[in-house]
Amino acid sequence: MCGIIGMIVKPGALREPLGLALYKCLKNLEYRGYDSVGYAVVRADGSLVIRKSKGKIDDVFEKLGFLDVDGLVGIGHTRWATHGRPTDINAHPHTDCGGRVVVVHNGIIENFIELREWLESRDHIFRSETDTEVIPHLIEEFKRLGLDSYSAFKRAISVLRGAYAIAAVDLDTPDRIYFARNTSPLVVGFGDGVTFVASDIPAFLNYTRRVLVLRDREVGYATASEVRVEVVEPSELESSDPPSSEVVNYVGRVRLVEWSAETVSKGGYPHFMLKEIHEQPYALAQTLAGMVEQVGKVIDLLAGAERIVLVGAGSSYHASLAGSLFFANLAEIPSMTVVSSEAVWYVKAWGKGDVVIAVSQSGETIDTLLAVREARKRGAKVIALSNVIDSTIPRESDVAIYTRAGPEIGVAATKTFTTQVVSLLYMAATVGVKRGVLPSREFDLLLSDLRRASELAVEILSRVGDPAKRLAENVFAGSRSCYYLGRGVGLAVAMEGALKVKEVAYVHAEAYPAGESKHGPIALIEKGFPTLFIALSNEDAELISSNVEEMKAREALTIAVLPNNTKIRYLDNVIEIPRAHPYVLAALAVIPLQLIAYFTAVARGYDPDKPRNLAKTVTVV
Ligand code: M6R
Repeated sequence: MCGIIGMIVKPGALREPLGLALYKCLKNLEYRGYDSVGYAVVRADGSLVIRKSKGKIDDVFEKLGFLDVDGLVGIGHTRWATHGRPTDINAHPHTDCGGRVVVVHNGIIENFIELREWLESRDHIFRSETDTEVIPHLIEEFKRLGLDSYSAFKRAISVLRGAYAIAAVDLDTPDRIYFARNTSPLVVGFGDGVTFVASDIPAFLNYTRRVLVLRDREVGYATASEVRVEVVEPSELESSDPPSSEVVNYVGRVRLVEWSAETVSKGGYPHFMLKEIHEQPYALAQTLAGMVEQVGKVIDLLAGAERIVLVGAGSSYHASLAGSLFFANLAEIPSMTVVSSEAVWYVKAWGKGDVVIAVSQSGETIDTLLAVREARKRGAKVIALSNVIDSTIPRESDVAIYTRAGPEIGVAATKTFTTQVVSLLYMAATVGVKRGVLPSREFDLLLSDLRRASELAVEILSRVGDPAKRLAENVFAGSRSCYYLGRGVGLAVAMEGALKVKEVAYVHAEAYPAGESKHGPIALIEKGFPTLFIALSNEDAELISSNVEEMKAREALTIAVLPNNTKIRYLDNVIEIPRAHPYVLAALAVIPLQLIAYFTAVARGYDPDKPRNLAKTVTVV
């Protein structure tokens, strides 16, 4: 996730240099990414100033000193690296060969390799490792082929596949900012003599509250006083026809937002945790878009492994538990998960033939890092699965795979957990096919549900908010203790749900294999003791039914998260989620549990973003 901003102003409309205004806008987008920053301004004399660097916004602005740079049009970017390490060269904006077209982008261009090869065969020289850089070169190439600036921009957009929010300036038309959106968010702000395009409304709230939220495939340009929007259809690279397009009458969609200053960086949500829970559909789409390309890097290594060992801490440990079950069942490779801080007791048996997958959203957790170092010392190959590009664990591993969920600010892992689970699932299934143990028909069924993960997450979020809030307020907020029980991959979900309510709402929650509950934990059950079951399929439900009965016979308060139309008797409360492959639901069934934890914390008067005694990243053993 990155933040982009574009501003175009009438002479005299701003009471400050454009560089300062862009800085203020970027500061409001800093929550979207902060590993590099950059901007481009066209000065009144027509010259282009580009400044960019690795680092946080304040440090970079201080170092490069561009607050006083002035002009009438500019674009800026705060980066969360996805393609290419966070370096000065990879920082946005990016330009064409001639240095006349300048672009900022948020998202992932899935076909960038093909586009880059095509452009290189036409003598374009690339400077960065980013997917974004294909965009200015495409615009330049289509201009060389005879199109005017706007037509070249539309043509370039029509050949991109993937997720993007783009702002571009061409020195041949300095009175316009071109923009385009697909999947990645982009909004237009209408000020007095100034027009904005930005990744999010908070960017320009200091200047205007009149907003147009762009829709997928909308493309257009803004001047200081007008905005044109069209829908542009995809086209093929080699096609000689212009892409078909239709002008959009957006006037009825412009609205006035009423947000307070303190909620802006939270995008209108009261807490980052709730915002990040709601970002899961987008995060899942981003992860899956990137996974197809990334898994190619590790498939041979994994398929040839004699054993796969996953290591992780906290939520990453729970995702790893799901992962080892996927590798055992889909790829039939002996696999196990070890919690990072305990890895030291197992490492003697690690060595050649082992592939260790180190799961860590931050990429900095010291326990996981130490396990990585031990594993490599003993000859095992290490794959890092992380959300932070170029963090220590990916850097010290043999190969790195990124979840691309965007920055997670809340201390509780939410979107990083779900994206870890789908990443591991995609890897295991692909390896299963490669090893010839997962029939392609089964792989296709799994893949078709995996591709719907984002859509299913939207459905879950729209359905489970109210029941989760009611349970939080009426049951969990008043309980001192509870059980979360599941079987198979549902156990990993139960463990993650229990961790959430423990860490943000301070309710003691214990997760157990449902079948194990009668071997001790059931002794604690008394009237009204909340016992939450996870079942992800009819088979799970059948097995869990008897555990529910056992709990109910002791007057527990029984709750279950179940796919639609699953029958289990003796349940006091049911939260229904859509039906899908149970392994895909392993990622999604945690959403109601995240919401229960969130609403319980709020009902008990706690700030879920800053739980006591916890840090987002634990760098001490
Ligand atoms: O950055 P990592 O994934 O390595 O972090 C691991 C744990 O510290 C982390 O998952 C922690 O348990 C979260 N607070 C869970 O919500």
